[in-house]
Amino acid sequence: MRMKKKRHGAERMYLLSSLVCNDAVNLVENREEIFKNSYPLRIEIGCGKGDFIKEKSKADKDYNYLAIEKIADVCVVAVEKYAQSRGLGCLAPNGGWKKSDSIIVPLGSSPVDFSGDDLGNVRFAVGDAAEMLSKLPDSSIDAIFINFCDPWDKKGYEKRRLTYISFLELYSRILSKKGKIYFKTDNRGLFDFSLEQFEKSPFKIVYSTYDLHSSDMNKTNIETEYERNFTEKGFKINMLIAENNK
Ligand SMILES: C[S@@+](CC[C@H](N)C(=O)[O-])C[C@H]1O[C@@H](n2cnc3c(N)ncnc32)[C@H](O)[C@@H]1O
Repeated sequence: MRMKKKRHGAERMYLLSSLVCNDAVNLVENREEIFKNSYPLRIEIGCGKGDFIKEKSKADKDYNYLAIEKIADVCVVAVEKYAQSRGLGCLAPNGGWKKSDSIIVPLGSSPVDFSGDDLGNVRFAVGDAAEMLSKLPDSSIDAIFINFCDPWDKKGYEKRRLTYISFLELYSRILSKKGKIYFKTDNRGLFDFSLEQFEKSPFKIVYSTYDLHSSDMNKTNIETEYERNFTEKGFKINMLIAENNK
């Protein structure tokens, strides 16, 4: 994702750091304390500016979510959108955070002090998802969402695709038995490649479509930023759901 450098991105993220958990192992091990419930944990890889996770976490409330994004200046937008959608305030004109009681916490201050229950069922992490996931315990995750990941079109770059077999093997290890991967892309070449990779993996494809928006699944579909853009340009959206049969 291309993104102009955000003004004060690091300080803005710091203000909202109670919504950030870059140590995914800690999140898994202490999730009852962190989320104050024992719901299963789901992961979004490459959450971008966070439209999907903001809506998904509202639609499916009986889960907790970790949204991972490798670019900090993109992730800060996702964190701010999520915080605003929870009624936790909004970005102040000077770049600080305006709390719901209208008190402005300026840039450079300590993190905004939200009460634990306000934070809801999402935490964000900045970093490389594969690296983070490789440290997670076996069978600790309920589902993984991969939305519009980079296609790595150039010849010789297949191994970088997030649906390459080595990634699928990692996902299989950390997902529970019958845990699911939900994958969407506009890119037909990447989709066909992914179908082949899933066939070689411990996953069973339980649903797939080359045209999500004309399918039954569209009723419960939550659009991402990229999905909206590609759809406006006339691209069809491919989607698959795969179940872990390890
Ligand atoms: C094409 S954008 C899609 C964003 C969003 N999912 C959507 O559908 O609108 C892909 C995003 O994934 C992030 N990303 C790519 N590889 C990643 C990785 N290994 N770990 C975490 N984030 C990653 C990129 O920085 C980018 O923001």
